[in-house]
Amino acid sequence: MNLIHRVGAINQLNEDTFLMTIEAPEIAATGKPGQFVNVKCGGTDAYLRRPFSLCRIDRERGTFDIGVQIRGRGTEALSRFCENNPIDIIGPLGNGFSLNREDRRIAVVGGGIGVFPLLQLLREHPASEKLTLLGFRNRNQVVLEQSFQKESNEIAIATDDGSYGARGFVTALLERKLEERPIDRVFICGPTPMMKHAVEICKAKSIPCEVSLEERMGCGIGACLVCACKVRLSDDWDYAHVCKDGPVFSGESVVFQE
Ligand SMILES: Cc1cc2nc3c(=O)[nH]c(=O)nc-3n(C[C@H](O)[C@H](O)[C@H](O)COP(=O)(O)OP(=O)(O)OC[C@H]3O[C@@H](n4cnc5c(N)ncnc54)[C@H](O)[C@@H]3O)c2cc1C
Ligand code: FES
Repeated sequence: MNLIHRVGAINQLNEDTFLMTIEAPEIAATGKPGQFVNVKCGGTDAYLRRPFSLCRIDRERGTFDIGVQIRGRGTEALSRFCENNPIDIIGPLGNGFSLNREDRRIAVVGGGIGVFPLLQLLREHPASEKLTLLGFRNRNQVVLEQSFQKESNEIAIATDDGSYGARGFVTALLERKLEERPIDRVFICGPTPMMKHAVEICKAKSIPCEVSLEERMGCGIGACLVCACKVRLSDDWDYAHVCKDGPVFSGESVVFQE
């Protein structure tokens, strides 16, 4: 497996978030929505890898995009990469979202950096009705609105401070939309409190849902236990590896810890 790929392009989405296109034909050929890559970010720690979701895949060109929000030293180092730089990537990793033909009407619910894996899901899911609900802190944090619009029948955005779209949390939008129409499955990714609440809303309506967890990671391949999360078994619970058993889990199975 070739780990060294090339940065194709970088597009700034807002002051702290950018889209990086990576030329990697093998990953573009096999990557599935919801899977992620573990990227060597460089900087002062030569071994520093960080996980990023496959945001958009162009199988013909052999490229994929990751959306990156600068949080700390890894993402800061990654933001200094330029077009044509070599980049060391392991992937695609993890399981990915389900793409069932029986789910004719789906909704995706994303918050902050959690919106990124949902774009490729919308592009590949066979459903005929696709509702997109996105939440951001404020107007400046809204990213990829047009790309999501292109892949959805309907889109609604919420911001915490009301500076764009509806005021409040995206979960309020979800609650309202589920009152208005039937949905077969909901796909959720975002901050833990948001995912927990969104799962509760789906459970109350008996609508199956899937969550993509963004637990901190080390190795990304099931060897270090850094990414353990609690999951329900029939009448017990156990730890699962988000990197290997996930990052996508059925909403009902996750024991959320805030
Ligand atoms: C499966 C998966 C997919 C992801 N996809 C994306 C993506 O598409 N785009 C994107 O921008 N980020 C994504 N992330 C989160 C991203 O990996 C972290 O933001 C990144 O590792 C932070 O590294 P850092 O060195 O810059 O920050 P650090 O210096 O390690 O930490 C800086 C701050 O960020 C917080 N932080 C670190 N890791 C996470 C995390 N996993 N979730 C929430 N907060 C965190 C820390 O608590 C700290 O406050 C994903 C994470 C996972 C597990
Ligand atoms: S990140 Fe090492 S086991 Fe999951």
